[in-house]
Amino acid sequence: MRAIVYSQTGDSGVLRLAERPVPEPGPGEVRVRVVRSGVNPTDWKARRGALSHAEAVPNQDGAGIVDATGPGVTGVARGDRVWLWEAAWGRPDGTAQEHVVLPERQVVPLPDGASLDLGASLGIPALTAHRCLTVADGGPDRLAPGALDGRTVLVAGGAGAVGNAAIQLARWAGATVVATVSGPEKAALARAAGAHHVVNYRTGDPAAEIRAVAPEGADIVVEVAPAPNAALDAAVTAPQGVVAVYANNGGDEVTLPVRALLTRNVRYHFVLVYTVTAAAKDAAVADVRAAVEAGALRVGEEAGLPLHHFPLERTADAHDAVESGVVGKVLVDVAPE
Ligand SMILES: NC(=O)c1ccc[n+]([C@@H]2O[C@H](COP(=O)([O-])OP(=O)(O)OC[C@H]3O[C@@H](n4cnc5c(N)ncnc54)[C@H](OP(=O)(O)O)[C@@H]3O)[C@@H](O)[C@H]2O)c1
Repeated sequence: MRAIVYSQTGDSGVLRLAERPVPEPGPGEVRVRVVRSGVNPTDWKARRGALSHAEAVPNQDGAGIVDATGPGVTGVARGDRVWLWEAAWGRPDGTAQEHVVLPERQVVPLPDGASLDLGASLGIPALTAHRCLTVADGGPDRLAPGALDGRTVLVAGGAGAVGNAAIQLARWAGATVVATVSGPEKAALARAAGAHHVVNYRTGDPAAEIRAVAPEGADIVVEVAPAPNAALDAAVTAPQGVVAVYANNGGDEVTLPVRALLTRNVRYHFVLVYTVTAAAKDAAVADVRAAVEAGALRVGEEAGLPLHHFPLERTADAHDAVESGVVGKVLVDVAPE
């Protein structure tokens, strides 16, 4: 089978096309014929980072069709369409290859009508967004229709991949959603994702604009850029609110106005999708699966997430597109459906 591999870290030039044997699933494992591989910033960051295996296949997310199951697998069967999460976390085998073997837990059925493009876009962004939306003091710790009724969610960077998932999941759960963006094109995408209100964080007085539509403030802030947004978040987070930080875009060191935050009992909660508890991960997978079944998670420009497809042999270009900050979702076409 064809696979993209790298045996040294560095820029995208380290990625090369190779032939590998088709792997066999062991007990509790599932082999998936990968159709689509999803690319996230974590994939190029890992490729530039430290290599912990002699050879690695990149990309955490993907979607495809089950083509073999090992002993003891009960939740999926040959022929099922599925999405995959964290394929390359702590393992040398990501989704940029024609077949991947994974523990059954990381192979989730896709309902009829949900595309493999959607499936390959879920893992990292949707599971991260779910965690950010479920760390508030007093809950909810699960997302479902009504779970966030009466809450206001502020999504920083609503046109990003995680931001898009956060908007869609928060809307599904009943929240009032405010998103920030850097310009009019991204504003249109955040609205298409479902944001009720969109504020340009680069112009005017974003804190006043957010307060105008959410006078009580935001109960949950889904934050991609905690350093540049520290003052804004302090100005607009509601009493007992949480700032859920999932990235360090714009700087790794944060200066906080302690008094403004402590008087409102605001909490900062840091999120790394890979290291959340197993219970939190299981909850996220189950709720994202339910959201997909309800048709509440979508991809494409009409859902605020334009898709960019690259053939497998151009996985390096796909990585470069993500690294250069392309707007939307980058997908690698591994094989025809
Ligand atoms: N902790 C985790 O588990 C986890 C999971 C997934 C992703 N991440 C990290 O999260 C980051 C985003 O990932 P992604 O896939 O969503 O990337 P993406 O699609 O490129 O989105 C990044 C977004 O951040 C926005 N942004 C940057 N600075 C901002 C600011 N000061 N205020 C508001 N928005 C701002 C950008 O919008 P503008 O360009 O318009 O500002 C862009 O829309 C990456 O660093 C990634 O590594 C972490």
